[in-house]
Amino acid sequence: MSSNHRTESQALAQADLLSREHCLQLDAQDPLAACRERFTLPAGVIYLDGNSLGAMPAAVPARMRQAIEQEWAVGLIRSWNDADWYPAPQRVGARIAELIGASGSEVIVADSTSVNLFKLLVAALRMRPGRQTILGENGNFPTDAYVAAGVAELTGVQHRAVAPDEVLAALNEDVAVLTLTHVNYKSGQVYDMAAITRRAHEVGALVIWDLAHTAGAMPCELNACEADFAVGCGYKYLNGGPGAPSFAFVATRHQAALRQPITGWHGHATPFAFGQTYTPAPGIDRMLVGTAPQMGLFSLEAALSAFDDVDLQQLRAKSLSLTSLFIALVDQQLSGHGFGLATPRNPALRGSQVSLTHEQGYAIVQALIARGVIGDFRAPDILRFGFAALYLSHADVWDAVTTLKDVMDRRSWATPEFMARKAVT
Ligand SMILES: Cc1ncc(COP(=O)(O)O)c(C=O)c1O
Repeated sequence: MSSNHRTESQALAQADLLSREHCLQLDAQDPLAACRERFTLPAGVIYLDGNSLGAMPAAVPARMRQAIEQEWAVGLIRSWNDADWYPAPQRVGARIAELIGASGSEVIVADSTSVNLFKLLVAALRMRPGRQTILGENGNFPTDAYVAAGVAELTGVQHRAVAPDEVLAALNEDVAVLTLTHVNYKSGQVYDMAAITRRAHEVGALVIWDLAHTAGAMPCELNACEADFAVGCGYKYLNGGPGAPSFAFVATRHQAALRQPITGWHGHATPFAFGQTYTPAPGIDRMLVGTAPQMGLFSLEAALSAFDDVDLQQLRAKSLSLTSLFIALVDQQLSGHGFGLATPRNPALRGSQVSLTHEQGYAIVQALIARGVIGDFRAPDILRFGFAALYLSHADVWDAVTTLKDVMDRRSWATPEFMARKAVT
């Protein structure tokens, strides 16, 4: 944490600029303020969990009604052609490509992030025969580590997970593939995609970026960074709904050589020829496996309309304004309550979330949820707050911190009800 950044946020706090009035002024100048109407959120809720499950875009229910009541109920199987169901994975992938700095033919929607990671890890190992290491970091989201370990066991290579600041030094000629999450799910810290990809390529390794906490939260430039592969969730900042399918990116230069291991019929060059031998489709389509989860795809497609005409630089600027404000308010209002900050103060290193630490984190999050401020908790002590710039305001941030202060001042978290752990935290 740089002392410069600490000084900046403390100066902001001391300058007495932090009032609800000031937040309302920031909202009045917000070029994205109107995007809030693109979402349906319940009254009385401040939703700071779009990094886990995005809020529902207002366009989704009508699209789902159309898909269910017309395309399925009336169109029946004809809808694969007549309602353009069949090309939906490519079509939705092309829309997501615009948000992550890829071209339309490099992204496809399929399966879950975990499954796409599996497919790409095996494909990457096949492109680097003889190399014995899958490199990762030890603070990665568990599914990334589990899948890498599973692929290592299956293929006979080793999975090595190092500390985040040791990744560059651990890259060597034995590494076939490096797998990293661009924005860390717990701390919200961002890796330098360009620098890491460059170093990996210098030693001949490939990189798979997990964009679960990047896509829709901040711009990223896969092609400008010469990225090889990426995966990411449809249900977080892309707002596709619970269990919406994930996306996969394969750079054009790798597509012809890519051999992913789940050779299902939708990845075949001619699925409806029903031949008995697998021939992969020529481009990104070879990442497909079986029939796509169409309802989740339609929901995701409708949800992506919330990004129509959104300038991603404005999205990033607003996201940093919200997270910087949250940090400054926590500094100003919550000192002495035992919170730590797990997210970088330096905005350049911050995704679109702020994580606090507290030994009573779980109960505090439950008490906040009971008051309509929804964040989440990640063991052992992280309170996670996601800031989706399309539907949150600076006044929301003020109100959320005011509620948190009240929960702490009154110790309203200290009840058996809030301390008993539920299955999903
Ligand atoms: C960084 C990261 N990767 C992967 C996943 C899991 O994705 P899926 O459930 O689509 O496999 C998550 C879920 O929270 C995540 O945060």
